[in-house]
Amino acid sequence: MSNKTVTITDNATGKSVEFPLRSGTLGPDVIDIKDLYKEFGYFTYDPGFTATASCRSDITYIDGDQGILLYRGYPIEQLAEKSTFLEVAYLLLYGDLPTAEQLERFTDSITRHTMVNESVKNFFNGFHYNAHPMAMLTAVVGSLSAFYHDGLDINDPADRDLSAHRIIAKLPTIAAAAFKHMVGEPFVYPNNALSYTGNFLNMLFARPSEPYEVNPVAEKALDQLLILHADHEQNASTSTVRLAGSTGTNPFAAIAAGCAALWGPSHGGANEAVLKMLEEIGTVDNVPKYIAKAKDKDDPFRLMGFGHRVYKNYDPRAAIIRKTCHEVLNELGVSHDPQLELAMKLEEIALQDEYFIERKLYPNVDFYSGIIYRALGIPTEFFTVLFAIGRAPGWVAQWMEMITDPEQRIGRPRQIYTGAPKRDYVPIDQRG
Ligand code: SDX
Repeated sequence: MSNKTVTITDNATGKSVEFPLRSGTLGPDVIDIKDLYKEFGYFTYDPGFTATASCRSDITYIDGDQGILLYRGYPIEQLAEKSTFLEVAYLLLYGDLPTAEQLERFTDSITRHTMVNESVKNFFNGFHYNAHPMAMLTAVVGSLSAFYHDGLDINDPADRDLSAHRIIAKLPTIAAAAFKHMVGEPFVYPNNALSYTGNFLNMLFARPSEPYEVNPVAEKALDQLLILHADHEQNASTSTVRLAGSTGTNPFAAIAAGCAALWGPSHGGANEAVLKMLEEIGTVDNVPKYIAKAKDKDDPFRLMGFGHRVYKNYDPRAAIIRKTCHEVLNELGVSHDPQLELAMKLEEIALQDEYFIERKLYPNVDFYSGIIYRALGIPTEFFTVLFAIGRAPGWVAQWMEMITDPEQRIGRPRQIYTGAPKRDYVPIDQRG
């Protein structure tokens, strides 16, 4: 803790109290107001937590003004170019890049945990054919808590590790089963001879009736997208995982809570919403009309994939995905993608518009990702599931960090009560 303090004075009573300022390795200092209520009898009010740090964390750093994102200190651009998703998962979980031997052991462990209990298949029979895959993912990930409950001790580091590996390993298997259920095809078992991403693509697209070979362009592109989604400090779904986990609940239940939070269109559901928006806009001629709608306070329409709570600059992930988009489409032989052209036009017009400039609204991670997913043959409703697979290492790393933080307590915000004051019960025949 630094020696710096901030003095808060209650003008009503004249009482002044010094509160410590806490400094991280990067980023602005934070006023530690833990004792505010004890000193003054006041809470703070911060809906949406726009000015509240909920925890300390060593995992991810974002400078929203500069558009910088670091995982454990490493710039996202370097990881996206040089690393692999499993290496990044190791980095997030354990703090440093692995040695070759550590990576081999980690990869082996993840690979060995890709299977799910055979009875997990039965859960899918309960879902209608048109169930949303995020609904299936949330439910079935939650159901894993039924398989791994007795005997799991979250205070035991070995049990935490095992749970983390199981979550990262089994999410693609469950996701692919949800996909197969959607398209009415038989489930494909994991193939441990393939890479993490290759195995996932195989479980999505292989059919018993014909040979399937993983396309290396798709494998590389998807692996990079997973890296780009792997963590993003205290976003809504991660905060949900931490809050649920702070009660000491089963980790699979906490991750299911994260999946539920991710699904919303303001968060991970935006990647699906972007493609639906592009379909609705249809052609470049309609862009000005939709920009006007996005700016109109009386119209609920918003530019999906645009704006961010923390980034007041270009989301560095969006910049990478935009570039990869062109490369992947080229490599897949798509010379002209009308939706990519539409998205670029939308971006160009929005970034020149006073409304977006003033509010510092830029494309975020969800703006271009769907165009790549679609080129890989993945249906729109499935996009957020891919976000969840990518985010799994971040969720479990943050959950592990939370459990081991000596300052960790159950998450329990306060409120400003605005309801009726105390009143007496009125018998039903006397109510007017
Ligand atoms: C993710 O937090 C994370 O880190 C999330 C994430 C991660 O990796 O975990 O990065 C992933 O969730 C990306 C965000 C995906 N969501 C969308 O793309 C949905 C569209 N964007 C927004 O609804 C919005 O920008 C949010 C939810 C992302 C951020 O909301 P904030 O921080 O609460 O900002 P706000 O809604 O208060 O907006 C500020 C102003 C408002 O105008 P005024 O009232 O000041 O006049 O900007 C306007 C908003 O109306 N605005 C938009 C807009 N986003 C904000 N106007 C039009 N279109 C938009 N997209």
